[in-house]
Amino acid sequence: MSATRQRCAGCGHDIPDTDTHPRCPRCQGLLEVHHATPAVTGAQLRALFDGRWGARGGPHASGVWRFCEVVLPGAAHEILTYPEGNTPLLANRAVAEWVGTPALLLKHEGLNPTGSFKDRGMTVGVTQARRVGATAVACASTGNTGAALAAYAALAGLSALVVVPKGQVAVGKLAQALAYGARTLVVRGNFDRCLELVDEASRELGVYLLNSINPFRLEGQKTIVLEALQQLDWEPPDWIVVPAGNLGNTAAFGKALGEAREWGLIRRVPRIGAVQAAGAAPFAASFREGFVRRHQVEPHTIATAINIGNPASYERATRAIRETDGVVTAVSDDEILEAKAVVDAAGIGCEPASAAGIAGARQLVREGVIRPADRVVAVLTGHLLKDPMIVTRYHAETEPPPARANRPVEIEPRLSEIERELRACQTT
Ligand code: F0G
Repeated sequence: MSATRQRCAGCGHDIPDTDTHPRCPRCQGLLEVHHATPAVTGAQLRALFDGRWGARGGPHASGVWRFCEVVLPGAAHEILTYPEGNTPLLANRAVAEWVGTPALLLKHEGLNPTGSFKDRGMTVGVTQARRVGATAVACASTGNTGAALAAYAALAGLSALVVVPKGQVAVGKLAQALAYGARTLVVRGNFDRCLELVDEASRELGVYLLNSINPFRLEGQKTIVLEALQQLDWEPPDWIVVPAGNLGNTAAFGKALGEAREWGLIRRVPRIGAVQAAGAAPFAASFREGFVRRHQVEPHTIATAINIGNPASYERATRAIRETDGVVTAVSDDEILEAKAVVDAAGIGCEPASAAGIAGARQLVREGVIRPADRVVAVLTGHLLKDPMIVTRYHAETEPPPARANRPVEIEPRLSEIERELRACQTT
């Protein structure tokens, strides 16, 4: 029998790790993966993970499967990996100054194979799908989950259904789902409705659900934190700041940090700062009230990735915030766009939802919650090219032009015009 089990977060019911129920068969609560405590010390575990770092081939070349003992130990021979992960932890003075924390580091998850952190969850989710004999997989998505699912399903040779809200998905993400060959369903409704629909389909039609409701996805996403800790030589930062939509990452980060401390990988747990867009901030509303009740909103934000009004992982994420002495905040669309322009102009780039995390970090510094001397890791969740439309719109806007707009300049095909522009860009 495998030492890894699935356990209901609501009623505590325990089922094997290869059980295919998408939710608790007793109470329909969300399931969590529960690993037995590793039989080695924290130092031995760190040495094991460090020894694999930089592997050139095999599953350990993945920034997810390098940590397989604490991700999905039973999958050793069935792993489906691109590979993914191994994303850089970047220091950048311009972004750090704008945020107000000189020691800021950016964990750039946009540099994963399909351009977002979703690949870390999907390598584990699709591995598990194959392990339990699924023939078709499905997800609802604001775009990135769909892109990752489509790619990994193609690698695995599985049929894939991607269900997205009409008119609310950035063009790069929709292009990926189509290009990788997923059957892409455009629903006349928002993301929350799409999620209800695939949840129902998984129960009624038996299609294997790969939203972050699926606990194996979160096991993969834990490695964002594990890899960042490893890159910091297992010396935890003071804060980990992350944009929050459906709350899968917030939940996964809390689980990763709790386990890392319990198993001796780290001695101190960083605080989680979860950042929502003000127009889609039900979790921030609950946080302000001390989590006495769950909120639900009609979401409206330009950061389409986090345009979510009824986040699925609310309970698990609440626990993550409580257990890490975390905070939840919300930032306006204008603040998101400004943060994005700062990250983009630094030559790093990210999609709008990722910039929400950066705007949130700055806000928390201004409020005195994050101190300027704190060591902060902010997660950039998606690549700049996911949403090119928002970039061109921002830089072409004239009424009024945004502070950081970089307008394209139309010229006649003459050297004198190039000369003029060269002078202009050298003086600004
Ligand atoms: N950033 C990006 C780029 C995302 O795509 C998402 C979620 C988030 C942040 C929020 O993460 O849901 O774990 O709180 N995208 C999902 C999707 C909903 O369908 O691609 P979360």
